[in-house]
Amino acid sequence: MRVLLGVCGGIAAYKAAELVRLLRAADHDVRCALTRGAESFVTPLTLEVLSGYRVYRQEYLNPNDSGEELHVEAARWAELLCVAPATAHTLGKLALGLADDFLTTTALGFEGPVLVAPAMHSTMWMQPAVQANAQTLRERGVSVLGPSIGALASGDTGVGRLVDLGVLVREVDRFRSTGELAGKRVLVTAGPTREALDPVRFLSNRSSGRMGFALAAEAVRRGADVQLVAGPVELPTPRGVERCDVVSAAEMRVAVEERAAAADLIVMAAAVGDLRPGKTSARKLKKSELGGELALARTADILAGLAESAPDAVRVGFAAETENLEAEAIRKLEQKQAQFIVANDVSRADIGFGQSDNEVTVFRSGAEPVHVPKASKPAIARAVFDLVVPAVLARGGATKRAAR
Ligand SMILES: Cc1cc2nc3c(=O)[nH]c(=O)nc-3n(C[C@H](O)[C@H](O)[C@H](O)COP(=O)(O)O)c2cc1C
Repeated sequence: MRVLLGVCGGIAAYKAAELVRLLRAADHDVRCALTRGAESFVTPLTLEVLSGYRVYRQEYLNPNDSGEELHVEAARWAELLCVAPATAHTLGKLALGLADDFLTTTALGFEGPVLVAPAMHSTMWMQPAVQANAQTLRERGVSVLGPSIGALASGDTGVGRLVDLGVLVREVDRFRSTGELAGKRVLVTAGPTREALDPVRFLSNRSSGRMGFALAAEAVRRGADVQLVAGPVELPTPRGVERCDVVSAAEMRVAVEERAAAADLIVMAAAVGDLRPGKTSARKLKKSELGGELALARTADILAGLAESAPDAVRVGFAAETENLEAEAIRKLEQKQAQFIVANDVSRADIGFGQSDNEVTVFRSGAEPVHVPKASKPAIARAVFDLVVPAVLARGGATKRAAR
C-alpha cells in the first residue's frame, strides 16, 4: 500500500527511521513528510535513503519546476496517511482543519483513511484540549492509535509513548485493500432520517451515521463497488464511495429500492424513523395549531421489503435496542428475512448512537450469534465484514451480473 508517513517534531521522531524500514519490509511503499519541528529530531537524508523517495519538506512546488503542486501530488499518491509520531500541536491542527505547513495542507487535500499515533509526555496527553482534539479526530473517522504506557523520554513513566512499532505496522496493514469483494456491489445505508411536521420541525433520532460510513469504507477496502445512501449527517464521504443524500424514510426507501436489485450485499445501518407525522404542513404551523397531540403514521419497513425486491442479495439489518436485545434481534432476523442482524444496546452511554465506539452481537440465520467486543466503529465494521463476506462469496454472482 502507498503510505504517506507524516513525522512531527516530538522526541519519538527518531523512531520514524525504523518505522519506514519496517513498513517497507511489510511491502508498503512509503513517502515521508517532515514538519519543520521534525527536522530538528531526524534528518530528511535518513528518511530519504530508507524510503527511496525525496522527503516532502516545506516546498509546495516541484523543484524541477514542472509546476506540479507537491501537496496535491502527495495527497493523490497516498492510499493511507499515517502521522507517527503525532505531536499535540499537529493533532490540534488536524482537529481544527488548519493548514500552515506541508503535512497539514496535504491532510486537508487527502480523502483516504488517516491513522495517527500520538506521542508526548503524559501531562500533555492528558490535557483536556489535547484529549478533545483526539476525540474530535476519532469522531471524524480518524484512527487514533495509542499512546501506550511506559517509560517516557523525560524519565517519567506514564501514558504517552508512541505505540510499539510492530503494532503500528500491523495497524497500517489493516488498511491494505484485500480485494475479496472485487466485482461485487455493496449498498450501505447510514444515519438517521427526518420526518417533517412542517418546514422547520421534524421527528428524528440520535444516529450519527458513523457506523454506516465505517461500513462503506470497509466495503471499499475489500474491493467492492460501493453505494452509500445517507440520511442527514455531517460526515465526509469515504474515498471510493458513491453517495446519495436523502432526508426522509420515504426518500431513503426510493433510493435503496433503485439500487437494491443490482446489489450483492445490502447493509442497512441507517436508523430509519419508524414513525412520521400523519400530515406534513407546507407552511410553518402556529403554536396554536399544534394542539396537544400529534397524529403519527408508520413508515415502510425498507429492510423487510428487500426480501422481495432483492432476494439474491445478502441482507444485513441493524437493531438498536434498549432491552431484550437477543429476542428482538432474533425476531427481526425472521420477520425481515435478513441473513444477519447486527444488534447493539443503545441504552449504554459509552457505545452506539453518537459515540465513536460500538459493541455488537451479530445474529445469523442458521448459525450461532457472534459477540464483537467494544471497539472503534471501523474495527466493528471489519468484524462485521469478516462474518458477512463468506456469505456473499458463497452466493456467487452469475445471476446478479446477468441482471445488470
Ligand atoms: C526536545 C523537545 C521534545 C519535544 N517532544 C515532544 C513530544 O514528544 N510530543 C509533542 O507533542 N511535542 C513535543 N515537543 C514540542 C513540539 O516540538 C512543538 O509543539 C512543535 O511546535 C511541534 O511542531 P509539529 O507538530 O509541527 O512538528 C518537543 C519539543 C522539544 C524542544
